[in-house]
Amino acid sequence: MSVEAPRNVLIVGSGAREHAIGWKIHQDAQKSGQSVKQHFAPGNAGTSELGTNHDIGAEDIDKITDFAVDQGINLVIFGSEAPLFAGGVNAIEEAARKKGVDGVDLEAFGPSQEAARLEGSKAFAVRFMEEYKIPHPKSEILNSFNEAIDYLRRNDPTKLVLKADGPALGKGVFLPSSFDEAEELLRKMMLEGIFGEAGKPVVGQERLRGTEASVIGFVSNEIGLLIPARDYKRAYDGDEGPNTGGIGAYAPSDEITQEDLDEIYFRILSPTREGMRRRDTPFKGALYAGLMLTDDGPQVLEYNVRFGDPETQVQMRLLRSNLLTLIKKTIKGSLQRFDVRSSAEHSVGVVFASGGYPSEYETGRIISGLDKIEEGIEIFHAGTRINENGEHETSGGRVLTVTATGETREEARNKTYSALGREGEEGKIWVEGGFYRSDIAA
Ligand code: AMP
Ligand code: GLY
Repeated sequence: MSVEAPRNVLIVGSGAREHAIGWKIHQDAQKSGQSVKQHFAPGNAGTSELGTNHDIGAEDIDKITDFAVDQGINLVIFGSEAPLFAGGVNAIEEAARKKGVDGVDLEAFGPSQEAARLEGSKAFAVRFMEEYKIPHPKSEILNSFNEAIDYLRRNDPTKLVLKADGPALGKGVFLPSSFDEAEELLRKMMLEGIFGEAGKPVVGQERLRGTEASVIGFVSNEIGLLIPARDYKRAYDGDEGPNTGGIGAYAPSDEITQEDLDEIYFRILSPTREGMRRRDTPFKGALYAGLMLTDDGPQVLEYNVRFGDPETQVQMRLLRSNLLTLIKKTIKGSLQRFDVRSSAEHSVGVVFASGGYPSEYETGRIISGLDKIEEGIEIFHAGTRINENGEHETSGGRVLTVTATGETREEARNKTYSALGREGEEGKIWVEGGFYRSDIAA
């Protein structure tokens, strides 16, 4: 079946994930001779080289919708979760229905607001997994502080995980080391409201042991998996330091065997797809299953309703299939299980972050070395902008992801690190006051 490619695409977001999506669309268009015009809301200095950036916030659904309608956008791709939680896809679909009489072709990639609850509410996800018998750690939904304290008394707090229900920017998951610490956390979340409404209820969960893995795919009438990638969460070498949104990645990850993948497909992703369909909130978009591979098989720690960052940066470098075709098939419901094809190479991505990230950091620091990038290296921008002197400077915590590919992981890793410099080194990438891990994919 031929799927006609959209001509006018709007990518919502400003991270390296969104830059990598735009880069892949550009590569595909060059290869096939199609002309695709790309817009970004709001984008970054990197995306401005692929298309046009627009001063529209990623969560400003009304502005995004008006822009899409006015500018004759054919496809809106939502990169991050926040606009999905805010009903971005519903709004675009509604606008398309209204415009339908004029034959305007406007579609959105991502789950509806209802389906995005798989990520937006951990209590919802737990109830859903219980109902559809999807393997997950034993969990209780704690609706009040008293209930939560009672739960702590009935269990060993050092064998539990406590999770804020709602979105907390990756900061809402705790592995307490004592009863007192757990009580204090619950007090802060449930009584003092450090996460606002997101801290109520709290999900209490059995703490699992095993190897963590993320499996990400296109989900609609079928499931097409991207090549598995491993993500590094801790800020510093040796998995030290605070948790981040992700500070490096490589693909393929060999923690996951083909046997694991089959089990994850049949026992987790397929029942998730089917459960959402039965609830009348069918899932269409990118689904990310955060898993623990345990002695009892893979179990779901969390769902995300979007691609990973920085996983996407390495996955796009290996993806052979046309990305817009995959997206269109996901939206139309004509996806086939083996539509997603990746090269047999390896890819490594290292995030250069602002000093202080993931806590406070300065912006406006100079980024150097971007003018002479070696063949085979791709830099995906995140917190970057052009200052009044025409230089690249920082505007966020994760500044950019440097990627390379190779026949082996080691080759990809060496190439990636060869582009990164030390302070003051000429011709290499450097972020003033910034840092990156030196042990990604080692
Ligand atoms: P989440 O946002 O739910 O994926 O949690 C963030 C991190 O907390 C995960 O990547 C794990 O490292 C850890 N974690 C979450 N849930 C559990 C669990 N039930 N057992 C052990 N570790 C967990
Ligand atoms: N890298 C983790 C995430 O995208 O959620």
